[in-house]
Amino acid sequence: MAFPASFIDELVARNPIEDVVGQYVTLKRSGSNLFGLCPFHGEKTASFSVAPDKGIFYCFGCHKGGGVINFEMEIEGLSYPDAVRALAKRAGMEVPEDEQYQSRYRQQERLWALHKEAARFYHSQLYAPVGAEALRYAAGRGMPKSILTKFGIGYAPDSWTDLVDYLRKKGYTDQELRDSGLVTVSKKNGNLFDRFRDRLMFPIIDVRGNVIGFGGRIMNDKDKSAAKYLNSPETLIFNKRKNLFALNLAKKSKLGYLILVEGYMDAIALHQYGFDCAVASLGTALTEDGANLLSRYTDQVVLIYDGDAAGQNATQRAIPILEKAGLQVKVLQMRDAKDPDEFLKKFGADRFKLLLEESSNRVEYQLAAILKKYDLRDDDQKVQYLQESAGLISTLGSSVQREVYAGRVAEVAKISLDAMKLEVNRAYKRRQYQEKKKQEKIDLSPAKNLQPKSRAIRYDNLKSAMAEEMLLSLILREPALLEEVKDLEADMFSSPLLGRAYDQLCQRHRQGLEVSLSGLTDFEPEEMSHIAGILQRQDGPVNEQALRDCALTIREEYQKAHTQSTDDLMRLREKMQKSKGIKA
Ligand code: GTP
Ligand code: MN
Repeated sequence: MAFPASFIDELVARNPIEDVVGQYVTLKRSGSNLFGLCPFHGEKTASFSVAPDKGIFYCFGCHKGGGVINFEMEIEGLSYPDAVRALAKRAGMEVPEDEQYQSRYRQQERLWALHKEAARFYHSQLYAPVGAEALRYAAGRGMPKSILTKFGIGYAPDSWTDLVDYLRKKGYTDQELRDSGLVTVSKKNGNLFDRFRDRLMFPIIDVRGNVIGFGGRIMNDKDKSAAKYLNSPETLIFNKRKNLFALNLAKKSKLGYLILVEGYMDAIALHQYGFDCAVASLGTALTEDGANLLSRYTDQVVLIYDGDAAGQNATQRAIPILEKAGLQVKVLQMRDAKDPDEFLKKFGADRFKLLLEESSNRVEYQLAAILKKYDLRDDDQKVQYLQESAGLISTLGSSVQREVYAGRVAEVAKISLDAMKLEVNRAYKRRQYQEKKKQEKIDLSPAKNLQPKSRAIRYDNLKSAMAEEMLLSLILREPALLEEVKDLEADMFSSPLLGRAYDQLCQRHRQGLEVSLSGLTDFEPEEMSHIAGILQRQDGPVNEQALRDCALTIREEYQKAHTQSTDDLMRLREKMQKSKGIKA
């Protein structure tokens, strides 16, 4: 994004990283670094570091890192330009006009406005003559008018271009219509058609209140040829992995926890019956992004997935994702109905409340799930039940928890608590042993350890890459050293990522700009994290000799690779000549 470099430098200087991070994380000084609990993953010991002198943050646990702009992007879920905007506002700075940025932002604003218009259109159709049947369907499913209004539910008429015509009349261009995902383009003649036809429409609204997409439900379940739900495709403003249905409402709830369900209808019914803290994932399994989003509004989540096998599997998968985001997880086991919507409409809010009060923490839930798998009258199965339960209990962090659950299992299986405790200890030791083995294996293969976490930026030549890392860290700590390696070219770097970083730093040095990580642009978040990690790990002495050694290694490795390929070329040539000889 083309903000002037000098503006970014000033912006970074006026937003000290320790201050910005300090708004979200309690930091304690330790040496030249500050440490705190990582806001990006759940943890109990502080592995999140901030280095004010280097202007970076880095988490030794989840390996996220970068400069102050990256932090703002991550923590607020903003794009690069929006993060720059937010930081400029924070420091009372004016953002220079940037055409590319302005146009992208304008494009977003247009799409938000377009979606709002579309939502209005669909909602109005529900009360028009064409919507009569949809309105009947909604009423048949027990949705009162107040709920239809609250959620902005609408109807997409059974026509080809009603929405297209309406939006064109409102001044939206065909390009904007295509970008919105609300139309499909005919392959034959390029004409635009409404994507959603004859469906009950649920607007998807983000936490800032923008309509960003729709889910549409067919109203005739007998029609097996059509998908029951159709969702907006991914667009500039809609990412279904990063948003949750009804969070715009649930975030205001006073209940103190959030309920996560599978379906739009479930979330809506819960709100309707007074549980205004319900949200639903958008037709996908819960993602890490979704869990992190939840953790910004609560520290406790109640999972209520459907009672069928699919719902139970989804529950087991969601538990670790939620816990990793630092959330406390409870599970409500659905019964007497297939989902919360059906339950509420059959039995009402009071009985649901009972169910909610009965909902167990995730350990109880998982123990119950294990119990279901075995028949305790059979001795073999009983032993398996005890072993699997002991395995689960042994993963619990607190000894009190371990004791309590061991007691429960012992009671269920009618064995002594001592025997159960022994089994848990055995499972604990077994796991520790396995983990130690695993760690040893990692420690014994340094190459694996030095590799970046992400596959996309794997090193091809470790020896050279280590020198490249060291060299970058040296010049970031002492930019004047760049004078020493003037003839080292970015092309010689074995890692394209590190080469790119080196190239940008050289350019900044030539232009008399500050040589810092915060000034780097056009790097993906994970690339930035990787570079911040290098800077935070490398702490050796900074001197010219160290730098020259690095440069030498890089050059040597480059030449080796180079001559090797000429050798290969020679061999190839020989081979070709030989094969020609045979033919001839
Ligand atoms: P109702 O049948 O109207 O009560 O909806 P439901 O929410 O109970 O449906 P279900 O449990 O079958 O599905 C849960 C969620 O999965 C839905 O809310 C959708 O988000 C998603 N989903 C279900 N069917 C489809 C489908 O055919 N396509 C897509 N993309 N998503 C679906
Ligand atoms: Mn349902």
